[in-house]
Amino acid sequence: MRNSEKKAEIAIIGGTGLEEFVKDAETIRLGTPYGVSPQIFTTMLHGRKVAFLPRHGVHHAIPPHKINFRANIYALYSLGVKRILATNAVGAINPKFKPADLAVPHDLIDFTKFRKHTFYDDAPVTHIDFSQPYCPQIRHLLIENAKKLYPHVQTRAVIVCTEGPRFETPAEIEMFRRLGCDVVGMTSSPEAVLARELEMCYATICYVSNMAAGIQKELSTKEVHTIAEQVMPILQKILIETVRVLPQKRDCPCAKALTQARFGNK
Ligand code: HPA
Repeated sequence: MRNSEKKAEIAIIGGTGLEEFVKDAETIRLGTPYGVSPQIFTTMLHGRKVAFLPRHGVHHAIPPHKINFRANIYALYSLGVKRILATNAVGAINPKFKPADLAVPHDLIDFTKFRKHTFYDDAPVTHIDFSQPYCPQIRHLLIENAKKLYPHVQTRAVIVCTEGPRFETPAEIEMFRRLGCDVVGMTSSPEAVLARELEMCYATICYVSNMAAGIQKELSTKEVHTIAEQVMPILQKILIETVRVLPQKRDCPCAKALTQARFGNK
């Protein structure tokens, strides 16, 4: 494949059920310093080259704690991607959130344990500012488009990311509730921070598939699947519309994330 054909401007990282981005798409796997990426699909949406990366693999075979987040984000970076729109399934901790709601998180708490969470293990020592973990420009557009297309949109949410693959205990969820978390998932971290470390914009729109452990009686992947099937067509529309209206110019701090992140500034 020639270099010019490999380029993409925007990426969508999602779970299964976003077939629109896969049909008629070219597929590639890229080698990175962190390992080989899973299959990435590239396609044109509204005249823009978009890369779609299913983070669990095409057949949903990669569990959350085994996702190679660094290879995924680095592969998109090397394709030239500057903006990432993500989706995640989440359980609701906040009782005001309900199954089949959409939520656009504004903040994140990382409770993962064993993940490679940075590109900067060596010099130059790099401390990325994460005061605004999600790109404000993309968040705004996701919220606007979601509200136009769907009645149940939570426009702010603190998301907590757990290691998985098991669901949480009721006591863990009660602790997260007291910490101010609204939703819980297993895939939001370190995806968002790795994107910021490479100065890529990143925001996510989540769908609530269940009330979290202890709030409803028991949890099953079946209900995650059922809600996913229900909301995916609308989520797909929201993502495509967001790609359509995303201005070329990045009007956010993400693009300059490394400027103030290093001692001596380099
Ligand atoms: N916990 C963690 N991850 C999830 C959940 C949950 O309740 N629902 C969907 N993904």
